[in-house]
Parts: sequence; C-alpha cells; structure tokens
Amino acid sequence: MTRPDDVTPLPLAETARLLVLTGAGISAESGLATFRGGGGLWEAEPVEEVATPAAFARDPARVWRFYSQRRAAANAVRPNAAHFALAEAERRMGERFLLVTQNVDGLHAAAGSERLVELHGSLWRARCSRCGRPPFPDRRYPVEPPLPSCDRCAADGRGVAYLRPAVVWFGEPLDAGDQYRVTGFLSRGRLEHAPLLFLAVGTSGTVYPAAAYVRYAAELGATTWLANLERPDNAWAFDHVVEGAATQVVPRLLGLDGF
Ligand code: OAD
Repeated sequence: MTRPDDVTPLPLAETARLLVLTGAGISAESGLATFRGGGGLWEAEPVEEVATPAAFARDPARVWRFYSQRRAAANAVRPNAAHFALAEAERRMGERFLLVTQNVDGLHAAAGSERLVELHGSLWRARCSRCGRPPFPDRRYPVEPPLPSCDRCAADGRGVAYLRPAVVWFGEPLDAGDQYRVTGFLSRGRLEHAPLLFLAVGTSGTVYPAAAYVRYAAELGATTWLANLERPDNAWAFDHVVEGAATQVVPRLLGLDGF
C-alpha cells in the first residue's frame, strides 16, 4: 500500500498505453454521493425500487423522481482536479489513452474528456422504454405524471410509451460496442508490444463487468493500480494500491500535480 505523499508518477512515456476506470469516488469531492457505504445512494433508495426495469414498470414516477434528483445534483456541481487531470492526460497521450467510467454524472465530459466510454450510460440522455430509437439528449426533471413519453411511438399509433433515463439498470446488459472498445483497447497494446497500464479510481469493484477489467488487463500483461479512499474487497487484484482522495492521488499518478 502506498500513501498519497509517496506516490510517484506512472511510467507513461512514449509507447505506454493507459486505461483508466473510474467510479463514483472520483466525483465525491465534487459533492456527489457515492452508491455504497454510510450515506450512499443505495442506502436511501433501495436498488430494486429505483434502478431495475421491474421498478420502472411498477412505478415510473418514483424512478423518474430518483433520476431527476440525480440530474439536479449533478447539474449543481463542477468537475474536480481528478477529472481535469484525466482530460489533460488524454490530450497528452491521444490514442494511447482510454477513459472508461461507470459514472452517469457527465463530469468527465464536462472536464473535457472525449476518449470516454460511459459504460453505465448517462443521466443526460433519455430513451424510449418501448421502441429501439437511439438515446438522445434530455435535460428535463420529471417528478410526477404526466411523465415524458415517446413522440415516435405516439406518431406511429403505438400509444403512450414512457421515456426513461438512458442509464444501465441492474439486470440489463451493457452496450456491446462499449465493451468492445474496452477489450479492444487492452488487446491492441498486446499486439503492439506496448507497455500496458491499468488504473482504477474511486470504485468499490463490486459491479461487473467493470470489476473484472482489472483481471482481464492483468492477463494481457498490464501493470495495475488502484487509487481509492478506502481499501475495497478487490484490492488484492491490483499490483499497486494507493489509499487516498482522488483529487490528491490522480494528478500525482499522472505526473500532473499542479498542472
Ligand atoms: P461505490 O459507491 O460502490 O464505491 C465508491 C468507492 O469510491 C468506494 O470504494 C469509496 O471508498 C471510494 N471513494 C469515496 N470517496 C473517494 C475519493 N474522494 N477519492 C477516491 N475514492 C473515493 O461506487 P462504484 O464503484 O462507482 O451502477 O459503483 C459501481 C456501480 O454500482 C455504479 O456505477 C452504479 C452502482 O450500483 C449502476 O447504477 C448500474
């Protein structure tokens, strides 16, 4: 275990490739609640009541109230030094860098990240709960009926179909293209014989498949780091663990302290 003051920058020179996986902990210092632990979102609102397809079928207004609160909370905060450092690392590394987030808060994009996979979707997009139209930008805050509904379904005579947040709920598959971007980025490093680095930040490592990426990366020869406030259950899977706050640790790991 390394303490934040003892952190030395990752070996990112020349050909090295870096995949960064972030979770709710990276946005905690911006002022957003994490999911697990005391005061976590899932303590106040049980997952099965607000984040499953069955919950939406049962009580779409309750689910929308939860996500409207998430939208309001995310809209009220700014990216922090850890988000900005990752955006800067992308500018410096280009194609050798990929950021994969489990967060739906939009703060990585707000910080300027573009080589970004939003694995669990985004609070700031909606999609139809019935038809297959692609997700689209949506910044409304529904709290009670009438809930927003799909204009295409109405136009096609299919009646009222509620819109839903374009986030991945428990029991739903991730987008196959997103997963391919992650595995493709990791495997290409091996093909190119480039040093591969994997860094996870602010995630408890409890939700799959994101929690399995560290082992996949290690099997492809990656050296793996975890930067987290507390030591999570899957800390054993990493070569290096830094216990500390993301805003302190991430800029240092990226060699961007005070950039
Ligand atoms: P969790 O809430 O499970 O874990 C957040 C982690 O961040 C914890 O291990 C904290 O110790 C750590 N942490 C808190 N503050 C930090 C800070 N300032 N710096 C660094 N680390 C800090 O959140 P996730 O792992 O992101 O999925 O949760 C994964 C998924 O579970 C979420 O995407 C969400 C949730 O259910 C869906 O909704 C599908």
